[in-house]
Order: sequence, then C-alpha cells, then structure tokens
Amino acid sequence: MTAADPAAELAKSCCAVAWSGDVVAMVLGESYHPGGLALTRALLGHLGLRDGNRVLDVAAGPGASALLIAADHPVEVDGVDLSPSSVDHANAAALEAGLGSRVRFHLGDAERLPFGDGVFDAAVCECAFCTFPDKPTAATELARVLRPGGRLGITDVTVTAGGLSGELAGLAGWVACLAGARPLEEYSALLAGAGLRTVHTERHDAALARMVEEIEARLRALRMIRSTVPALASVDLDRALDLCAQAAAAVRDGVAGYAMLVAVRE
Ligand SMILES: C[S@@+](CC[C@H](N)C(=O)[O-])C[C@H]1O[C@@H](n2cnc3c(N)ncnc32)[C@H](O)[C@@H]1O
Repeated sequence: MTAADPAAELAKSCCAVAWSGDVVAMVLGESYHPGGLALTRALLGHLGLRDGNRVLDVAAGPGASALLIAADHPVEVDGVDLSPSSVDHANAAALEAGLGSRVRFHLGDAERLPFGDGVFDAAVCECAFCTFPDKPTAATELARVLRPGGRLGITDVTVTAGGLSGELAGLAGWVACLAGARPLEEYSALLAGAGLRTVHTERHDAALARMVEEIEARLRALRMIRSTVPALASVDLDRALDLCAQAAAAVRDGVAGYAMLVAVRE
C-alpha cells in the first residue's frame, strides 16, 4: 500500500480509532505492546541516551513509554500519534506525572512527521511500524528527523512471508498489528533503504504469546460482566475472542512473533 491509496488511509484511521478506545485500555492496561514497559526499558538501554537529548516516540498511543523515557532519563521527549483522543489522554498523563515541561504529545502521521530534519538524537517506535501502510515512507521520515549517528529503537510484530490467512490477513488483522507485519529481515531492509543501518536485533516471541494469552483472559472476564459495563455494549467480544484464538495459533505455529531492532542513522 502507498500513502495515496484510499485503502491505506482506511487502514490508518481504523487503527487509530481502534487503539484509542476505552475497551482497549481495559484489556491492555497502560502499555500497548508485548513485553510492556520492561521491554521498553531494555530497548532504551540500546539507544545510548545522554542528558539533554531529544527523543521521539512515534505512534506513542497512551504515552506510557514516552513518560517512562522522561522519568528514567533527563531528556526531552516528543510523542506523536494519529489518534486525537490518545494525544489528549497522553498530554493529560504527562501533566499529571509532573513531566509536562519535558514531554509533549502531538497529533501527526508517522508517514509525515511534524518535525524538522535531524532534530532528534533517538527515536522509538513500539508495535506500530507494522501498521504503517507505506513503510518505505515511514522509514524515510524516521531517518529524516534523526541526526546523523542518532539511534532508532523498534519493537514490532513479525510475520513469516505469506504465513497469515483468513481474518488475520484482512482489515481486522491489520488493526491487530498482524496483517501489516513483515519478517524481521524485511524491516531491516526497509530501514536500510532509508539510510538506517541495523546494529542489533533480538527475538521476543514469548512476549507476544503472553500478551495474546492475557488479552484472551481479560476478554473472557469482560464477557462475564458485559451487561454492567456500558462501553462494552457495542463490542463483539465473541469475535474478538475468535481473533485472539487465531492469533494464538499463528504465534504457536511460528508464523507470528515479536522482535527488537536497533538501527543507526548513517
Ligand atoms: C499498538 S498501539 C502502540 C502504542 C504505543 N507505541 C505503545 O507501545 O504503547 C499502535 C499505535 O499506533 C498509532 N498509529 C497507527 N498508525 C499511525 C500513523 N500512521 N501515525 C501515527 N500513529 C499511528 C495508533 O493510533 C496507536 O496508538
């Protein structure tokens, strides 16, 4: 898919709307990626952050990772996300955490980042590169906003080539971060095409398996109390559970996994 493609715009807006809902917050908690904030900390360990650095969180969602970065390091953090309600929520969380002077969240598209060239020392993008329809453009944008020598840390869903079928390969699978995912080597090649050289990779497949299990358990619990929670009235929990079962099978069969990738801007 390319940026001008209407299907690409539909996939992006469905993704932004789906991930900003109250039910997602109930199901996922504070962090919206496998491995949670522990994996974010491990990723940060590869970025060589220094005092006063500027760090970008692309597709920051509810903002938990950006707040963690600012709480753990004396740096300035900008987060960007396509969902207005996530950006509002994240800015409110930054103020509440007393980090409003060092963390700001902006509305924006990863394929058209609202920042100048070379302004960031490091960038992270967790569980989101897989959802960008025009990945070469997103990679070019990430490279553009990083200074030479700046580091990019990605954690993301990986999928073996041609491995998904049925619903997981369609729009629902796209929103669930699966249909748009690629093999790890393909992410590296996409980044290399934009001038970002991969210097480190790690597999974290068990983190994805755990996350799918946790989501399944929470969906089952929500199904039991659905009549008492108004936000659940319009949610098809049975379909969500069915998607979960398909995702669990994809992880079990080695089709889907999760990986960390660190790259340097040449
Ligand atoms: C799975 S969530 C991950 C959120 C966050 N990175 C985390 O790990 O907690 C995916 C996020 O990507 C955002 N997103 C999807 N497409 C985007 C785009 N083209 N530009 C910016 N954000 C996007 C969604 O709104 C959502 O918040």
